[in-house]
Amino acid sequence: MGFDFDNPTNRLETDSIRWDTFDSKNVLPLWVADMDFESPPCIIEALSKRVENGVYGYTHSPDGFNRLIAQYVFEQYQWKIDPDWVVILPSVVSGLYTSVQQLTNSDENVLIPNPVYHHLRLACSSSNRLFIEMPLHLNKQRWLIPFEALPSLLTNKTRLALFCNPQNPGSTVYTHEELKTFGNFCVQNNLWICSDEIHAGLVLDEAKKHIPLASISTEIAQRTITLMSPNKTFNFPGSGLAWAIAENPLLRKAIQVGLHQTIALPNLFAYTAASAALKEGEPWRQELIQYLRLNRDLIQAKINGLDSLSIGKMEGSYLAWIDCSKLNHINPHQLLLDAGLATSPGSQFGNSNFVRLNFGTQRSRLNQALDILTSVA
Ligand SMILES: Cc1ncc(COP(=O)(O)O)c(C=O)c1O
Repeated sequence: MGFDFDNPTNRLETDSIRWDTFDSKNVLPLWVADMDFESPPCIIEALSKRVENGVYGYTHSPDGFNRLIAQYVFEQYQWKIDPDWVVILPSVVSGLYTSVQQLTNSDENVLIPNPVYHHLRLACSSSNRLFIEMPLHLNKQRWLIPFEALPSLLTNKTRLALFCNPQNPGSTVYTHEELKTFGNFCVQNNLWICSDEIHAGLVLDEAKKHIPLASISTEIAQRTITLMSPNKTFNFPGSGLAWAIAENPLLRKAIQVGLHQTIALPNLFAYTAASAALKEGEPWRQELIQYLRLNRDLIQAKINGLDSLSIGKMEGSYLAWIDCSKLNHINPHQLLLDAGLATSPGSQFGNSNFVRLNFGTQRSRLNQALDILTSVA
């Protein structure tokens, strides 16, 4: 079945954060990380059926939901988990904040990548935890953790590492060897790990696959909370749901603190959408990946032809991390905004010389964006 990713969806008057923040008549908004595509038909059908029922009372997770997740994780990543290791959360972000709050004391600090999705940093600062940044560097066009420098970064108060794989921004899909090195380092230094793997379903590199960090060894699994969600892959973050996987019962207990109290459970539509995605979304996901690969190739070709912009290898997800240092402009994000393109400012993730471009959009819109990039370069 062919899905129409070129369909020019209209997101105006849907209260979209991405489309309503800037003047949509003059600015093409390719920033916040949701896609401009309709969700898979299986999700739309399941939600429509649920809406038609008309009664939206308190809802528990569907029967066998944890088993469905365990089966999905096995099929997709060949990671064998027990359904009892799964804790359902309303979002990955809430899992990040709970992990920091529960796995560190107030005088302990947290290792995080830089650049990184801003909530990893905010999860620390909002709880008054110091964080130590692992500066990612380009190695053969891939943004990598500085493995050799890791020991020099730790203090005797470092208790937790927050990890992001596939990496946002930068889009690295870490290899088995890289994950083993990082995981073993954490084990040897008694660090807990919270691994944000929300972009796992969006590996674009033909030679790579997503490997959950906790699947590398029992020792690593015993120290790791893995956060995953179908929201990003199947594009329903506005009615989202996530799960944590923790083999260690202590970690499972920690990630549940506040759930159903200060942290609300997922809403009923999120359960409906997630069940449909996991059961029937795979053909759509396969076609999505093909579409995103062509978008990735267009960006790569365009940027390779421009002297003042550069980009590393785009291995996963739909977020291009573009180096604008050679533009010699104090605020490349503003420069592009003035030219009619809203990107995410690199400063949000830790480097103001970069912008992050969301290419989860129709090719006609992406081509418009690439014309604007060319006009400022
Ligand atoms: C790495 C990463 N983690 C978490 C999130 C947000 O997840 P959620 O909507 O489930 O809170 C995003 C969204 O862009 C992300 O890129």
